[in-house]
Amino acid sequence: MPATILLGAQWGDEGKGKATDLLSSASDIVVRCQGGNNAGHTILAGDRLLKLRLVPSGILYPHVTPVIGDGVVIDPAVLLEEMDALAAAGLEVGRVLVSGNAHLIMPYHLELDRVTERYLGKASLGTTKRGIGPAYADKAARIGLRVQDLTDPKIFRQKLDVALKEKNLVLSKVYNRLPQDSDEIAADYLAMGERLAPHIADTSARLHAALRAGRRVLLEGAQGTLLDLDHGTYPFVTSSSTVAGGLLAGAGLGPMAVDRVIGVSKAYVTRVGSGPFPTEDDGEAGRHMSETGHEFGTVTGRARRCGWFDAVLLRYAVRLSSITELFLTKLDVLSGLERLRICAAYRHADEVLHEFPAHQSVVHKVAPVYEEHEGWGEDLSAARRFEDLPAAARAYVARIAELSGAPVRWLSVGPDRDQTMEVPGP
Ligand code: IMP
Repeated sequence: MPATILLGAQWGDEGKGKATDLLSSASDIVVRCQGGNNAGHTILAGDRLLKLRLVPSGILYPHVTPVIGDGVVIDPAVLLEEMDALAAAGLEVGRVLVSGNAHLIMPYHLELDRVTERYLGKASLGTTKRGIGPAYADKAARIGLRVQDLTDPKIFRQKLDVALKEKNLVLSKVYNRLPQDSDEIAADYLAMGERLAPHIADTSARLHAALRAGRRVLLEGAQGTLLDLDHGTYPFVTSSSTVAGGLLAGAGLGPMAVDRVIGVSKAYVTRVGSGPFPTEDDGEAGRHMSETGHEFGTVTGRARRCGWFDAVLLRYAVRLSSITELFLTKLDVLSGLERLRICAAYRHADEVLHEFPAHQSVVHKVAPVYEEHEGWGEDLSAARRFEDLPAAARAYVARIAELSGAPVRWLSVGPDRDQTMEVPGP
């Protein structure tokens, strides 16, 4: 049975948690494939508001096996704290599986994320300061420590000493920080390793076996397409691959293992951190989206920048990940705006661009070419069927699908589980 991919089609924070939660009920295994605790899902399950950073949201369903795959970078302290909180909320966490190949975020990664951002000054990326970039950098430089190293204290210590020697030089000589202590780190991490040991598994092999046995596997993306290391708005991106191909690599599966790719997108656009954002609106409409949509980051609490729906971005996401269907979130937030805009193309000098520009300098300079659409005043939060929506809202959704090149299959009008509706096909 082929697996399904669910990923963010914008700059992250599209409401993937809610979409994953819905699809998890019909899955046997839910897999995190990349990123780390820079991601944050907020899920409202009954009256419980759960914030998840590393554990896939499938954990809420007792029949689901949550898997943290090879491509994830793990801060073990955060993972254990999250598992403790989930256990305290009555969830069975013994079933969480963690790949031995996943890399570890070390204390010096956290420190380096903080000091390099400070050092960059005005050119800073606005990272989440969770050590993500430095951990992936060490992975690529082949001096990273992996989850499996936690089970071999001698090897762990050897690798730590090699890495720390260089890190301490950089921390003390370049950034004027105190060096870190190898004994202390080893003691902390090996103790955490003992707690994590029962969860460590060959997750890629487990996923293959599950697919062969006809089990339903959902690969859950973190961050979003425009934050992809190769295809996003570099350098204002995260350090992992957030597109469908990256998720497959991070899970240890091949392209033929999947037959559906669901792109999650807001009915408008938000972005946290620095970097270009062609449809950003810092006027009345942007304020409306920010306030009505409660647009503050789950991980850092930072205010998200808001703007109009951008079909150029979405077409790009559809192309990069072979998105087969869309899950559109937060349509209710647009209620009360008299006129709505959709960016159908970009203008650069005298040219109209229908595709996302390949050159970063062009992305910084484009002006959106907007279509104007009629808004609606009605509160949508009680709507449960597409037919219940005002005609203007239905027309807006239909236009998004048309411009993006993928059908809108689900629509959400509020944070509750039951505030999601299926959109009938054409
Ligand atoms: P990093 O992933 O912490 O290195 O941050 C790099 C960029 O990605 C920054 O602009 C962050 O704000 C952004 N970012 C990372 N994770 C997320 C996420 O889950 N949602 C939205 N933005 C994110």
